Amino acid sequence: MKACVIIPTYNERENISGLIELLINVFKSIKSHEMHILVVDDNSPDGTANAVKIYTRKYSNVHLITGEKNGLGSAYIRGFNHVKEEFDAVVMMDADFSHDPKKIPLFLEELRDFDFVIGSRYIDHGETPDWNLSRKIISRGGNFFARIVGGLYKVHDCTSGFRAIKTSLLKKVDFRYLSTKGYAFQITLLYELFMSGAKIKEIPIVFYDRRVGKSKLSKKDIIEFFLNSYRLRLRTGERFAKFTTIGFIGIIINTFLLWLLTMVFGIHYLVSGVIAIEVSILLNYIFNDLYTFSDNIDSTNYFGRMLKFNGVALYGFLINLSILYLLTAYTGLNYLVSNLAGIFAATIWNYFAVLDYTWRVKSVVYYTRKSIFSTIKVKTGS
Ligand code: GDD
Ligand code: MN
Repeated sequence: MKACVIIPTYNERENISGLIELLINVFKSIKSHEMHILVVDDNSPDGTANAVKIYTRKYSNVHLITGEKNGLGSAYIRGFNHVKEEFDAVVMMDADFSHDPKKIPLFLEELRDFDFVIGSRYIDHGETPDWNLSRKIISRGGNFFARIVGGLYKVHDCTSGFRAIKTSLLKKVDFRYLSTKGYAFQITLLYELFMSGAKIKEIPIVFYDRRVGKSKLSKKDIIEFFLNSYRLRLRTGERFAKFTTIGFIGIIINTFLLWLLTMVFGIHYLVSGVIAIEVSILLNYIFNDLYTFSDNIDSTNYFGRMLKFNGVALYGFLINLSILYLLTAYTGLNYLVSNLAGIFAATIWNYFAVLDYTWRVKSVVYYTRKSIFSTIKVKTGS
């Protein structure tokens, strides 16, 4: 395997040289993999990049990219994009010795069976020995929030910065949706990988306090972190709400047309029914394309999508009718109530089918469908 340790740095001149030397040493014990280091420095004013350049000249497997300071998340995204084609795996770690490089062989070993390995402080044998009570509470509290609000219950340490990921999985993540620039990036990345069905494993780590320099965590990062946890969930809910609103309008249009054609124009009610359904499906498509899926990135043409939508909706209509019939005939439920159950089932079907098939939304929403039907293996401990 070809693996790259990515280290984002901002003013880490006093740490980075020692860390690179330590890593080079650890690499000597890793015989079965080709190991590299990539430092992503954001033009640190303290001259971190110059310290790294000494090593890029000395070792062919030490690399450096520099850029504008845009936060931890965007540094990682630049790093990922730089290596993902050429490498099989990346290891994410901090420059300040909080993460022990000697753990890296273990991360790589776990990557044989898992896609995403998280160094966890909050499982058995995980530790934060240097922290006082208030720091522990803050970190635990943040994690708890992300686990519940973000829907990431199964992972104990969602904010850990010590991780290993297979690049085959990183390639699946659409980084355009990873909009978080700062530390909230850790959560968003976890969320995206989790939802795309990554096999995740947490292994215990000891997190030490940084030796020198200051933490770069700002108030802005903390606010972003909390808002981001909500956004992860709402991103799924918002689109669904738009979809059902339009669906509801569609039912009203359908009913009105059925009445109009039958009563005013004297057409047979079954013929009126077919016309009313088809018209409301087409209108539904037009509105959804404009509103619910305005961020559509599928290149299929407008009418091709319309046809697909039509197919999905007709199948949904069959689901609706079957449930209406089955519930009414076999359970004696009132036909209006049965119909509501039918509408509900058809709406769920329509939503997930059009997401995947008609609009091919490549976001968390799209992955949510998979996450419902596939079991995600999350193991903890070692
Ligand atoms: N390139 C770049 N740009 N690097 C950055 C930036 C940035 O804007 N901000 C921070 N870094 C680098 C730091 O130089 C360091 O190597 C690493 O990111 C972590 O930053 P710290 O400032 O040391 O973070 P921390 O110790 O408060 O936070 C740690 O714990 C968090 C919560 O568990 C890290 O492990 C985080 O990744 C983790 O989310
Ligand atoms: Mn740190």
